[in-house]
Amino acid sequence: MRGAFVLVLSLLCLGVSVQCYSGRKYDPLGKFMKDRRSKRLVNNPAEDLVLTDYSPVYVAPQEGLKELDKILSLPGQPEVNFSQYSGYVTVDPKAGRALFYYFTESEDRSSKPVVLWLNGGPGCSSIGAGAMTELGPFRVNPDGKTLWYNRYAWNNVANVLFLESPAGVGFSYSNTSSDYVTGDKKTAADSYNFLVNWLERYPEYKTRGFYITGESYAGHYVPQLADLILENNKITNQTVINLKGIAIGNALIDHTDTEAGTFDHFWTSALISDEVHEGIKSNCNFSSANNSEVCYDYREQAYETIGNIYTYDIYAPLCSTSSSAPGVSNFDPCSSDYVFDYLNNPEVQKALHANITGVPGPWEDCNDIISTGWQDSPYTLLPTIKKLMESGIRVWIYSGDTDRILPVTATRYSMPKLGSPIKTPWYPWDSQGEHRYVVEYQNVTFVTIRGAGHFVPSYQPERALIFFSSFLQGKLPPKQSKQKAAFVLVLSLLCLAVSVQCYSGRKYDPLGKFIKDRRSKRSVNNPAEDLVLTDYSPVYVAPQEGLKELDKILSLPGQPEVNFSQYSGYVTVDPKAGRALFYYFTESEDPSSKPLVLWLNGGPGCSSIGAGAMTELGPFRVNPDGKTLWYNRYAWNNVANVLFLESPAGVGFSYSNTSSDYVTGDKKTAADSYNFLVNWLERYPEYKTRGFYITGESYAGHYVPQLADLILENNKITNQTVINLKGIAIGNALIDDTDTEAGTFDHFWTSALISDEVHEGIKSNCNFSSANNSEVCYDYREQAYETIGNIYTYDIYAPLCSSSSSAPGVSNFDPCSSDYVFDYLNNPEVQKALHANITGVPGPWEDCNYIISFGWRDSPYTLLPTIKKLMESGIRVWIYSGDTDRIIPVTATRYSMPKLGSPIKTPWYPWDSQGEHRNAILNHFFKVGGYVVDYQNVTFVTIRGSGHFVPSYQPERALIFFSSFIEGKLPPAQG
Ligand SMILES: *[C@@H]1O[C@H](CO)[C@@H](O)[C@H](O)[C@H]1NC(C)=O
Ligand SMILES: *[C@@H]1O[C@H](CO)[C@@H](O)[C@H](O)[C@H]1NC(C)=O
Ligand SMILES: *[C@@H]1O[C@H](CO)[C@@H](O)[C@H](O)[C@H]1NC(C)=O
Repeated sequence: MRGAFVLVLSLLCLGVSVQCYSGRKYDPLGKFMKDRRSKRLVNNPAEDLVLTDYSPVYVAPQEGLKELDKILSLPGQPEVNFSQYSGYVTVDPKAGRALFYYFTESEDRSSKPVVLWLNGGPGCSSIGAGAMTELGPFRVNPDGKTLWYNRYAWNNVANVLFLESPAGVGFSYSNTSSDYVTGDKKTAADSYNFLVNWLERYPEYKTRGFYITGESYAGHYVPQLADLILENNKITNQTVINLKGIAIGNALIDHTDTEAGTFDHFWTSALISDEVHEGIKSNCNFSSANNSEVCYDYREQAYETIGNIYTYDIYAPLCSTSSSAPGVSNFDPCSSDYVFDYLNNPEVQKALHANITGVPGPWEDCNDIISTGWQDSPYTLLPTIKKLMESGIRVWIYSGDTDRILPVTATRYSMPKLGSPIKTPWYPWDSQGEHRYVVEYQNVTFVTIRGAGHFVPSYQPERALIFFSSFLQGKLPPKQSKQKAAFVLVLSLLCLAVSVQCYSGRKYDPLGKFIKDRRSKRSVNNPAEDLVLTDYSPVYVAPQEGLKELDKILSLPGQPEVNFSQYSGYVTVDPKAGRALFYYFTESEDPSSKPLVLWLNGGPGCSSIGAGAMTELGPFRVNPDGKTLWYNRYAWNNVANVLFLESPAGVGFSYSNTSSDYVTGDKKTAADSYNFLVNWLERYPEYKTRGFYITGESYAGHYVPQLADLILENNKITNQTVINLKGIAIGNALIDDTDTEAGTFDHFWTSALISDEVHEGIKSNCNFSSANNSEVCYDYREQAYETIGNIYTYDIYAPLCSSSSSAPGVSNFDPCSSDYVFDYLNNPEVQKALHANITGVPGPWEDCNYIISFGWRDSPYTLLPTIKKLMESGIRVWIYSGDTDRIIPVTATRYSMPKLGSPIKTPWYPWDSQGEHRNAILNHFFKVGGYVVDYQNVTFVTIRGSGHFVPSYQPERALIFFSSFIEGKLPPAQG
């Protein structure tokens, strides 16, 4: 029923210019591939491999036509210093078949090569997509009438020719309707004829270096056309077309690898469940023509459970969504709609010399009839690509790594099959200090563009231009210089000491360092001994009367007006040692009806106020001035009274007068936190019987279960509900070292951060559950971290704090936020308002305390037994994960979930983060906030497009998820 409705709307999208779910890009390739699975036997792959029937080329006189094709000016166009041309080239006068092109010269045209750009489909327009939303000089404004200049246009470095091909696509047409039943061979032959005639029209380009580029289904067009050009050059004994190289992006080059890579990518991107992925892996044989019904069922289940996410970029927003969250790039998801309006404007068509014979309209981005009737299409282009590699032309294969339709995993499966030895191993290439990856094989180069979907120049225009320039120059993309690497190190150290805008802001990775450090002292700790907290020291309880009133915050400096109360201050947990923990408490507007929630950040050694309260889920965030605050409307105190604790002593404003207290560990931290809570509840007696929850992230994957366990044990010992614990939720949490390590390196590979060789090296040399690993294992590990380069630890798509790049992360989160918080919390006025630092603790206040972290004593290697115990106790246990985190990736958590040994109650489904739906038609469509699977006694939730600090990156999704947790309901399913 729902499926049928989706179909109706998809068809609607084809016919009329409504803002469809993904704009007008409705997935012709997905449909094409699905369709041909059923007719697999009809085609004989072997027969289709090489183009053989080179029909004689029709060459017409072209004199004077170039001048007629010159575009004087496009409606609504800004002024530019290059020439544009467009018009028709007849490729078959008898049939009346003519192809439409748009040619954008470079400002310095005579020194630049000619580059042909082809979009795929099959049946999609290189002008509507390539020229108008990707690499052309102009993009259409939302008014559908005016254009803006794309400063990353590829005609900065080349003369770029866009071709609508085959006939039937865009403005290209034939007077013989049977021509609309076409395929790969006819398309290649027509494109070749087009080029020969076009070069007659533009003879100055006849001997110019010529390149063919394209994406998607053009993974067929480009190699086939290149092959035809080279064969015809041979047959005619002359360089008719001076072909120098090809580049294909997110390209369909091998059906088997595409299918295998797609479903694996679905799993590694946390889009489908373990069961469905397993079902596909064990029931489908992607190189076979016949697959069982079971295989097809699992496949369908995969597509169904993914839900409504954008086909061409798993993190991009849909065109219809009202949400403010941008994709990895700033690309407007409704762009295709604007182009549709623009190219159907008769004034525009006139200026373009398009539709002069009155082709039936409207102009469409993609022609479904062409695509549906497609005749020949080999299942693999690998032999053709190999042939081109041997021919001596330049061959580059690139991939935007957040595409869903032709994912980077698919392309990576194909690369080794080209059978070429590696010349330059995988390294991060530099675009403004930020990294993507490249590996050079003999005669073929593979490049990834990080944070780009299917349409690379749309999503990452700057990175795409850098890559494209390198391709034309025949140079590998720029490496980070050694000197710069040293500089990064110096700067990292600097970051610890002073408030400069560092590479990743002040979040400099204490957890990564902690995990790494303890690998070397693995045998020192005895995991078994650390599993359960046993020594419950008697709790110190002090009189707390009147202290609550003293802790009330009148107003924080630079704070907007709000209708809830805030408190902060110290609670002494050990009067003899002089140990006191600092807290910040944000009540709800309606405090008496809401539960009490404790939030803990990890580290170990990091502040729940600096991170949790000030950059994640608290009601205020600090402005770049470091002095004023803005209100976070997704603050968790909308639905709960939220308590932030700086723990253990030594973190943030918390301190001890006994310096040996700064050598601490998990047990002491839990015990002190427990003492804190008991005393805090004395200070706030109205909360004593209130439902109580503990939440936290990262290393708090230790703190939270351990504290929960201690509370339950002490409730038992004292035969009373001292603390009314109802549940815990932990996010991107360190819960098992073995799974974290295995999950991390697998995630590195599946996110296209490390090379095949390094991943293989780790897999075959490291045993993550063993205490002792070989030198070889450590070497591979180091290589992994080295080749990743400088990307943000806590969100693989987020920009760095220092980068001047305009590309935002998946969310709008300001990567320099921690710097602003540092300035704010070190302001004496702020400290006074917070009742912090009253005894003169040595400063400055720091987000994370490295000394605490370095000296950490006890820390079990797995929390799974503790979590199991909590599950059995009857409290609510939720484990969540932001799926773009690098430090505790979703893959790591997914490896742990089955080990909790709990049966599935509600299988994996996409949850709805839209909340409210925009209108009745769109009611059935929703925005996937992430996925959820409910086991007996434990719930696993992902938050899509979010890094380590979930409420920072996806504040709206985080609040929906948190509200569901508090209410004890699963996150909303599709309505
Ligand atoms: C190309 O050269 C070969 C060998 O020199 C010759 O046999 C053939 O006829 C030539 N073809 C054309 C079209 O000139
Ligand atoms: C061509 O022009 C005619 C008449 O102006 C119009 O009806 C038709 O939709 C146009 N075709 C295309 C492909 O835009
Ligand atoms: C690379 O190209 C050379 C000649 O251009 C050829 O001899 C060699 O076999 C090619 N290698 C691969 C792996 O394609």
